[in-house]
Amino acid sequence: MTNEKLIYIHPLPVRVWHWINASGFVLLILTGFQIRYAEMINFMTLPNAITIHNYVGFAVIANYFIWLTYYLASGNVKIYIPDLRNVVAMAVKQVQYYGYGIFVGKPNPHIMTPENKFNPLQQQAYLAIMFVLLPAQMMSGLFLWKIKGYEEYINLLGGIKLLDTIHVLLFFFFTAFLFIHCYLATLGHTPLAHFKAMFTGYEEHHE
Ligand code: HEM
Repeated sequence: MTNEKLIYIHPLPVRVWHWINASGFVLLILTGFQIRYAEMINFMTLPNAITIHNYVGFAVIANYFIWLTYYLASGNVKIYIPDLRNVVAMAVKQVQYYGYGIFVGKPNPHIMTPENKFNPLQQQAYLAIMFVLLPAQMMSGLFLWKIKGYEEYINLLGGIKLLDTIHVLLFFFFTAFLFIHCYLATLGHTPLAHFKAMFTGYEEHHE
């Protein structure tokens, strides 16, 4: 018989931020494709795609501050910082688990707790995304929104071509991330367990 206990893993501000962010990203990616490939695809008009992209972009930027304020004010931001003494060894173990162990029924080497919620691969990916890549995407998006108004800053950063390339490369990165993130999120004790936990806050622990 398995012994189950519920642990409170995702506080409310994180869940609210996460689902607004996820819906925002889906809309940004869809409208982003329409804007970037307007000659090839046509599921909405270009002006509509631009308008939706701009509004949703601002919503995602405002929403980011819910995440940032919660993590800085609560001090929980440390769950995002890898422990440099063992990060490499733990990351290798996690890769072995995803590449082999999981297919032969081995246990996950990382046990989720509220203080140590992420495995080392999640930790590194989420740290880069939340502190570098997402802010870079938001800043480049903001500058592209009012090119004339921000001309001085855009030139300081290397010009419009470079800025646009960064925004588009990050758009490809986030699109790929979304697929990998959703796949990895199905690897809980049931395929929907992690998704459910992101709504209820509670994750089931099986011993
Ligand atoms: C349809 C879209 C998405 C779905 C279904 C989804 C699903 C999930 C699930 C189930 C979790 C909890 C398990 C885990 O930590 O892996 C999670 C956590 C997380 N997701 Fe997503 N996600 C989506 C989009 C995104 C996007 C677009 C981003 C960032 C750009 C993102 C960033 C994160 C972060 C940082 C966490 C950890 C949050 C925390 O506990 O502090 N997710 N996601």
